[in-house]
Amino acid sequence: MKKILAIHYSQTGQLTDIMNNFMSPFTDADIDFIKIEPETSFPFPWSTATFFDAMPETVMEHGMPLKSISFKHEQYDLIVLGYQPWFLSPSIPTIGLFHQEDFLKRIKNTPVVTVIGSRNMWLNAQESIKLQIQKAGGKLIGNIPLIDKTNNLVSAFTILHWMLKGKKTKKWGILPLPGIAEADIKGVSKMGALLKQHLSENHLDTFQEQVISSGVINISTNILFIEGRAKKLFIIWAKLILKKAANGGKRSFWVNFFKYYLVIALFVVSPIVLTIYTIFVRPFTVTQIKRKKAYYSNTELQTNGKV
Ligand SMILES: Cc1cc2nc3c(=O)[nH]c(=O)nc-3n(C[C@H](O)[C@H](O)[C@H](O)COP(=O)(O)O)c2cc1C
Repeated sequence: MKKILAIHYSQTGQLTDIMNNFMSPFTDADIDFIKIEPETSFPFPWSTATFFDAMPETVMEHGMPLKSISFKHEQYDLIVLGYQPWFLSPSIPTIGLFHQEDFLKRIKNTPVVTVIGSRNMWLNAQESIKLQIQKAGGKLIGNIPLIDKTNNLVSAFTILHWMLKGKKTKKWGILPLPGIAEADIKGVSKMGALLKQHLSENHLDTFQEQVISSGVINISTNILFIEGRAKKLFIIWAKLILKKAANGGKRSFWVNFFKYYLVIALFVVSPIVLTIYTIFVRPFTVTQIKRKKAYYSNTELQTNGKV
């Protein structure tokens, strides 16, 4: 019987549903299903202040202490790691997991599949996770990123509404429900079935090829463009806020400043820049865009920084 560790963190339960559905076909496996918990929980619902205040430590990947985890086995045939991006980086509890010796020991020489429950921006976060897995000596063999397929600006509104109200309701009664569509959450079991087949036939190395050809990964060119730039800016902001706070500055002032920057960048600057990009740059960079999408859909890690 194959031993599988299925491990994740979730605040709203969305990722727990995804993980449950993904693992549902593994009826004949020995599954160790673990939901990790931070030692000190993040607030849910968030307040605007606490939400944006989580940015610097998330982006700088500080991680956090977790409640102790008891693993069923010393070693597993496969690890399924579920995680969510926060501020274009893995969530703080997810990075906290990579600070746990007990987890790192189990990831070594073990195939890993990542399952992502995001809004729509997971590319940079997955690069960090690829690196964490590589450093721990594991082998990433698959990635199933689920996204909210609503328009980027609309889903920014709806997700914030969900996070700040704590309820998955329609903002103003008219916007779409926040989060990943129920059909996609249920449908992820098909990818679980595909993984089960590859695991039983000892063909894990061809799993991601099949995931890609199944069409579940759709990277939007606009998101590719935004993620290509925004993370660098977030790092500048994160460093600035941490430095100001360390030097006695008022952290909340700088976090607030970042909040306004983000709102303007997202709702004012990015639509203008994206329009210019779509007209003047995109038509001439089709091959480059294709190459980048193929890279991000795959599991290897480009270490020279040139995607
Ligand atoms: C602080 C914070 C920052 C987030 N940043 C991103 C992000 O950069 N990209 C993204 O696609 N989703 C982002 N999300 C949405 C999460 O990835 C996730 O989909 C949502 O929080 C629900 O996950 P859950 O299962 O933990 O409840 C963010 C959520 C939070 C709470």
